Amino acid sequence: MRTFKIGLFGLGVVGSSVVSILRKNQDLIYSRLGAGLEVTHAVTANPAKKREISLEGIKVSSDPADILDNPDIDIVVELIGGITTAADVVLRAMDAGKPVVTANKALLAEKSREIFHKVYEKGLPIGMEASVAGGIPVLRSLKEGLSGENILEITGIVNGTCNYILTRMTEEGAPFAEVLADAQRLGYAEADPSFDVDGVDAAHKLAILVNLAYGTMVPYGDIYYEGIRGITPEDIAYAGALGFTIKLLAIGKLENGRVEARVHPTLVAEDHLLSSVNGVFNAVFLTGDNVDATMSYGRGAGGLPTGSAVVSDIIDIARNLKLGIPAKIPPLSVIRECLAERAVMPIQDISSEYYLRFQVRDQVGVLATITRVMGENGISIQSMLQPSVSEHPDEPVQVIITTHRARESDVQNSLKTLEPMEFMAGGTQLIRIERFQPELKD
Ligand SMILES: NC(=O)c1ccc[n+]([C@@H]2O[C@H](COP(=O)([O-])OP(=O)(O)OC[C@H]3O[C@@H](n4cnc5c(N)ncnc54)[C@H](OP(=O)(O)O)[C@@H]3O)[C@@H](O)[C@H]2O)c1
Repeated sequence: MRTFKIGLFGLGVVGSSVVSILRKNQDLIYSRLGAGLEVTHAVTANPAKKREISLEGIKVSSDPADILDNPDIDIVVELIGGITTAADVVLRAMDAGKPVVTANKALLAEKSREIFHKVYEKGLPIGMEASVAGGIPVLRSLKEGLSGENILEITGIVNGTCNYILTRMTEEGAPFAEVLADAQRLGYAEADPSFDVDGVDAAHKLAILVNLAYGTMVPYGDIYYEGIRGITPEDIAYAGALGFTIKLLAIGKLENGRVEARVHPTLVAEDHLLSSVNGVFNAVFLTGDNVDATMSYGRGAGGLPTGSAVVSDIIDIARNLKLGIPAKIPPLSVIRECLAERAVMPIQDISSEYYLRFQVRDQVGVLATITRVMGENGISIQSMLQPSVSEHPDEPVQVIITTHRARESDVQNSLKTLEPMEFMAGGTQLIRIERFQPELKD
C-alpha cells in the first residue's frame, strides 16, 4: 500500500487534531483515497512540550529543514499561525516542489500576492479550506460546486466569537464587556480578543472569499472592517423592534469591476436565514446568477472541525499525487492568465440602508432639523422610532432613523453637519442594514 508522508508544522489545537483524525479515520481514509496518510515529521516551537496526543511514530523537532529538505515528505501542512515564519515555510515548501495545506487566513489574506504568485508559478496544489469557516467546506463550494456561477454576493457570519457574543447580548440584553468576559472564561474568546471582536479575523476570511469568487488578489489593507465593541444592548433591542437582528457580517460583491469587501455589524431582517445563525456557529450565504441563494452552516473553529477541513485538503492533494497530475483546480479559481487586478471599493462609495441612533436633547424642531439635513444630502428616511422621552429635560432622548438606500459618503456628510449642532447630546450610532439579492422563488 502506498503511504503519503506528511510533514506537519505545529502541534497546537489544529495540528494535534489533524494527527488524531488521521489516526481515528485511517481505514475510512484508505477506502476513499486508495492510499495511506501518515504524519512522519512535526516541527514545533517547543518540541519537548508535553502533548495530549501520542506522538509515537512522529519525529518532532524545531528545525524546519527536517521537513522542507526531506525528500521523503510528500505534503507539507502549515499550522503554526502568524505570518513571517508561516510565509517562509509555505514558500520554501513550494520551492522544494511540495504541495501545501494551510489554515492560516492571516497569511493568505495579508500575503496573498507572494503566496499565490508562487503557487501559480509552481503549478502545485495548495489546500486552504480550513482558513475560512473552519469545518464548513465553503471554499470548495466556491471553487468546484459553484464553478459555473457568477457569484453575485457573499455574505458570511465567519467569526464565531463575535456571533457568540452578539447572540448572548441579544438573548440576555447584557452589555458587550460582560458577555466578552464570560466568553473568555468559557474559552470562546482569546485573552486578547481584538483580532476577533475588532473584525480583523473576519476581514482576513473575507479577503480569501472574494479572491476566490472574483479570481483576484485584493490588497488586504483596503478592506474596510469594523468590530462589535460599539454595539449596545439598546441597539439590539431597537433593531429587534424594527424587525432586525444584529450580526457581524463579512460582505463581498463585484460592482463595476471593483470588489466591494467590508466587515461590520449589520442589521439583518429577522426572517432571513442568517438571523437564525446563533452562538459560535458560522454560515456563508452565497448567491449565484443561476443557482440563486445557497447557505452553508456549521462550526467555524475548534480543533476537530478545522482539522477535518485540513484532512480533506490532504486527501484531495494525495489524490492528485496518486494520479501524478498537477493541481487540477486553479488556486484562486481562475487560470493564471485570467487573474484580474481588482481594486476594493472605498467604504464611502458603497450604497446601503442605514440604522442611525441619534442622542439628542428634547427640544422643539430637532427632528425637523435632522430630516432636513438628511434630505439636503439626498437621503430619504424609511422609518423613525423614538422609544422613550425622558421626564428629566437634561437626559438625552434617543431617535432611531432607518434610511432608504443611500450612499455612505452622503450619510457621513449629514452626520458631520449634524454633530456640532447644539441639540446633539452624544455620538451617533451608525449600523448598516443589508438587504439580500432576491432569494429563490417557488
Ligand atoms: N484553532 C482554531 O479553531 C482555528 C480555526 C481556523 C483556523 N485556525 C488557524 O490554524 C492555525 C493554527 O492554529 P492553532 O489554534 O492550532 O494554534 P496553536 O494552538 O497556537 O498552535 C500553534 C502551533 O504552532 C507551533 N509554533 C508556533 N510558532 C512556531 C514556529 N515559529 N515554528 C514552529 N512551530 C511554531 C506551536 O508550537 P509549540 O506547541 O511547540 O509551542 C504550536 O504547536 C492558525 O493559522 C490559525 O489561524 C485555527
